[in-house]
Amino acid sequence: MNKLNNLANITRKDFPLFSSQRDVVSNLIYLDHAATSQKPIQVIKKLSNYYKYENANVHRGAHQLSAKATEEFEQARKITSEFINAKSSKEIIFTRNATEAINLVAYSWGNSELKEDDEIILSLMEHHSNLVPWQLLAKRKGCKLRYIGITDEGLLDFDDFCNQINDRTKLVSLLHISNTLGTCNPIQKISKIAHDYGALVLLDACQSLAHQSIDIDSLNIDFLAGSSHKICGPTGCGFLWAHENILESMPPFLGGGEMIQDVSLFESSWSDLPFKFEAGTPAIGEAIGMGAAINYLQSIGLNNIQMHEREMTKYLFNQLQDVKGINILGPSPEKQENRAALATFYVKNIHSNDIAELLDSKNICIRSGHHCCQPLHKYYKLTSSARVSLSFTSTTDEIDLFVEELKSAINFLKSNS
Ligand SMILES: Cc1ncc(COP(=O)(O)O)c(C=O)c1O
Repeated sequence: MNKLNNLANITRKDFPLFSSQRDVVSNLIYLDHAATSQKPIQVIKKLSNYYKYENANVHRGAHQLSAKATEEFEQARKITSEFINAKSSKEIIFTRNATEAINLVAYSWGNSELKEDDEIILSLMEHHSNLVPWQLLAKRKGCKLRYIGITDEGLLDFDDFCNQINDRTKLVSLLHISNTLGTCNPIQKISKIAHDYGALVLLDACQSLAHQSIDIDSLNIDFLAGSSHKICGPTGCGFLWAHENILESMPPFLGGGEMIQDVSLFESSWSDLPFKFEAGTPAIGEAIGMGAAINYLQSIGLNNIQMHEREMTKYLFNQLQDVKGINILGPSPEKQENRAALATFYVKNIHSNDIAELLDSKNICIRSGHHCCQPLHKYYKLTSSARVSLSFTSTTDEIDLFVEELKSAINFLKSNS
């Protein structure tokens, strides 16, 4: 047996989708892990257990079921805070997803702290969820957005960042790992410089949290946004982390139940952290499920995951060398060892949707489109690309089958164009 597949052979048993008992889709090859992760049975059981036996609203009832739901919900917050090495659970705000976490910062912190002519630095490789909230803020406040460029190798242009940062920069908001290029950005180096200029740093950790261990202290950042569904957890839940003092200084984002201390007809006062930012009934079961997902990832070990995915990335890139006519975006694993386990590619004169559809007809799921990175695609003069993305459950067999079918799809599409 191929030793490269050791971790996948162990972990695949945890995923009902990959289990051989599923007749209909047992041959399905899921290579779209960057869009959303599959869920292990441990998470599904925890979620279902909550809805079966622990379902109640949190922080409200005096009864035992509410106390149990609250205990599990707050335990999930503790697990999340320890996952990224936060100082306290109070620094974790549950949101609907990473997008909402970034919007929370843009509205609450951005509206109260930024003024006309202040500047925000983003990069050309950002996901729309780390672009549009800042565009809206810039329009509201008259701020300027600046964009860090990309080198020919698909890396963040660090010199360009150093040239653009200045005394007016108030925030540097970047993704950790690009969902399209796979590039891993040098956040520590960036934070050091940003802080020297008095700017804060927001990290969009959507594509890194399930693939390497994240320590907010060593990254030296001020905000972090994460999504449960990218880390083997349920959809409908994400989180924002920020330093307690920053969160204390920020006004509420949404108003309503749960986030108040006292309400009168014309005024209200706010709950303590983290509840000040959690208006309304939260996604209780989903947050509990996210906690189970984090426990699951930690039981495998983030270092083991990273090692497996690095080997698979090398294998993938090696096999793709044989595919005539494809152009891969982003750095090769030789150029950047810690790049993500994904490959985004295009073939001249062939639409990526056609490739994805032909692969789908062979039970192989890959993504095609702009991957919520239109400015990046415009930069490369593309309207779309195809993306294959791996995880710790990915095997060399899956990659081999994908590459074989990709070659046939390209040959077919070329001969019919
Ligand atoms: C890099 C990156 N940032 C942000 C997001 C947005 O995540 P969500 O849709 O869960 O808010 C994604 C999801 O694809 C992503 O890949």
